[in-house]
Amino acid sequence: MNNFKQTQNKLLQWYKTYGRHDLPWRNTNDIYHIYLSEIMLQQTQVNRVRDEYYPQFLAKFPSLKALAKAPLDDVVSSWSGLGYYSRAKNLHKTAQLSVNSLPSTQDELIKLPGIGKYTASAICSFGHKQNIPVVDTNIARVIKRFFALVNPTEKELWQITGTFVNEDDSRHHNLALMDLGSLVCVPKNPNCDLCPLKKECQGINEPELYTQTKKKEYESLELFYGVLIKNNQIALKISKERMYKGMLVLPSIDPIEDQFLGEFKHAYTKYRLRVKLYTVEEIEGEIVWMDLEKLGNAPISSLTKKAQKFL
Ligand code: ADE
Repeated sequence: MNNFKQTQNKLLQWYKTYGRHDLPWRNTNDIYHIYLSEIMLQQTQVNRVRDEYYPQFLAKFPSLKALAKAPLDDVVSSWSGLGYYSRAKNLHKTAQLSVNSLPSTQDELIKLPGIGKYTASAICSFGHKQNIPVVDTNIARVIKRFFALVNPTEKELWQITGTFVNEDDSRHHNLALMDLGSLVCVPKNPNCDLCPLKKECQGINEPELYTQTKKKEYESLELFYGVLIKNNQIALKISKERMYKGMLVLPSIDPIEDQFLGEFKHAYTKYRLRVKLYTVEEIEGEIVWMDLEKLGNAPISSLTKKAQKFL
């Protein structure tokens, strides 16, 4: 038992009233569903995952086994819109390595592709109800403020979060911390008046001191792609670049200004891209010809999908 019983109870009461109880992955014991939700939620908004991506993906791949058996192309094209396609590839690899079920310990889960410390702890806490801490960005912010931690290391943060775990109901405790971070203890102008932990919070006078944000560094890039269409087929290449590796993309070219077709902006991980398209008569190297009407369902990047409107 730790010394936080009263505080923990207030947190759980708050969660009962204000927590996000409509999220389907919180209302299932299916470990595969919980795992999938965590992978999707890494970079995608909760509402879009709940309403679109999660139900659609599960309708197509209802079990880990079904996912393992599916062709990689099919999995990658079903990831369309979610971006960060390495997540889809890792999901598929992990399904194949796990055969019937995922392991149930953090140590074993972390060995699988695409599963880091957070995801392993989320699966073990939310799926297996293990008495362990979970730290995502929202929980980290709550903990840093509550314990007035300036610049803690990852290790310290996990360790201190561990001292606060409610062993009587760690699963709801962790979900409550997550929701408190995303609904009340927000990065700017946190709503401390509404916080169930306000009495004990050591950071309440200067909440922003404990959550200094590093400015994201973006890299601007200009990309030039060739558009070659013959007999209702378009020339694509398999990307060997780090960006979109293994996916079908438009071929890179040296631009010829008077063949300019159009341009658009696109964001991909840390890159802010300006994409310029040019009509070309020939393409060097190995080409994959794709029927234009099949392009919508092909394993192509969202950038290539965006380019479709110029074709
Ligand atoms: N519930 C469980 N895991 C979650 C996550 N990563 N984001 C939002 N809600 C969740």
